[in-house]
Amino acid sequence: MANSESLVPPQHIAIIMDGNGRWAKQRGLPRTAGHAAGAESFRRIANYCRTLGVKYLTVYAFSTENWKRSQDEIAGIMRLLRRYLEEALRDMEKNRVCFRFFGDLTRLSPQLQKLCLDAQSRSQDYDVQVNFCLNYGGRDEIVHAARAFADEVAQGKRSPEELTEGLFDNFLYSAGVPDPELVIRPSGEKRISNFLLWQSAYSEYVFMNVLWPDFTPEHLDEAIAEYHRRNRRFGGT
Ligand code: FPP
Repeated sequence: MANSESLVPPQHIAIIMDGNGRWAKQRGLPRTAGHAAGAESFRRIANYCRTLGVKYLTVYAFSTENWKRSQDEIAGIMRLLRRYLEEALRDMEKNRVCFRFFGDLTRLSPQLQKLCLDAQSRSQDYDVQVNFCLNYGGRDEIVHAARAFADEVAQGKRSPEELTEGLFDNFLYSAGVPDPELVIRPSGEKRISNFLLWQSAYSEYVFMNVLWPDFTPEHLDEAIAEYHRRNRRFGGT
């Protein structure tokens, strides 16, 4: 596939799966059909990440702001996630993909929460770790982490002076996961939209003019090639 063999991929890629609604609209289909096509695209890209040797794939599946959408659309996305996780739990050994969930899961249905917890607890050191951002917001994550740290201070377990960036990392949903080197946003929008605000401080952003359901392994190759063309200095010279 394309020229991926010659490029060492980043170990962690994060994707804002944007453009499902527009993809459906262009075809005169309901928005849920766009999300179903988006879920297929995700399957394709997760498989391709395994082929490339990408260790972590983080995807924005449902944001804290997405609750503003119609009940019908929300139910459709939740149904797709449920179906995917049921399937993934069945095929975990074969697919060698494991899961983490970033976000406040308590607002999800008990059934979906159980699937998430089952998937997370059965996750071993497989080839790829998919991090699903579900009911996730970057600001919400930082507030959640600050509250958890403050709680430990209030209990006398820690002192405020102890807090460093490294320690704060441990209170985030992403604790233990290295920061993404590459964040991709398809669909032509050029915004971060509250995604991985803390973790993407030094990530390379690649914005692409393709709707998520049309995103192919070749697009991923293109994004990785663009990442390799950039000169990452981390604030140095
Ligand atoms: C953003 O596109 C997409 C979402 C809010 C939902 C993403 C969810 C999925 C791809 C399905 C989840 C299931 C699995 C298995 C990954 P948009 O609807 O905002 O698109 P638009 O900007 O064109 O309207």
